Amino acid sequence: MDAGAELLAEKRGLRLDRVVLLGRTFEEYRRYFLLKPEELIARDVLDVAGGVSSFCAEANACGIRVISFDPIYSLSAEGIAARSEPDLEAVYRAIGNVPIYRWSYYKTPERMREFRQCAYSILCPTTKPP
Ligand SMILES: C[S@@+](CC[C@H](N)C(=O)[O-])C[C@H]1O[C@@H](n2cnc3c(N)ncnc32)[C@H](O)[C@@H]1O
Repeated sequence: MDAGAELLAEKRGLRLDRVVLLGRTFEEYRRYFLLKPEELIARDVLDVAGGVSSFCAEANACGIRVISFDPIYSLSAEGIAARSEPDLEAVYRAIGNVPIYRWSYYKTPERMREFRQCAYSILCPTTKPP
């Protein structure tokens, strides 16, 4: 077994067969990347693979100049919804059965889904949230 196959065999987290469209909120980015928002006001930030995250919209609303890139931005809002809805549902259904994750922040898969829906509805306010 080569190193890549060994790593995959040992992986105990959620196994995904493709990149999924799940978006995090500004607060989740802040916590994950240990951002200090007050230090970013009026600065330029590049969010690569921003996807259906609301980071860009929320950051710009508070004076941080964020530009997000993602291949999905070539799709319509409806096209993005058509991909992100089943992705969120699939991850929501599967993630509670994977014991590796700690739930100290999200508490439950339902609450994690609420975060994702919040991010999505900020990104696409005119589209029904997943
Ligand atoms: C799980 S989402 C993460 C979205 C966001 N960064 C977040 O944390 O909420 C992964 C994103 O990576 C994007 N992606 C995949 N391949 C990419 C590439 N080659 N260049 C830029 N974005 C890519 C997908 O379209 C998808 O939106």
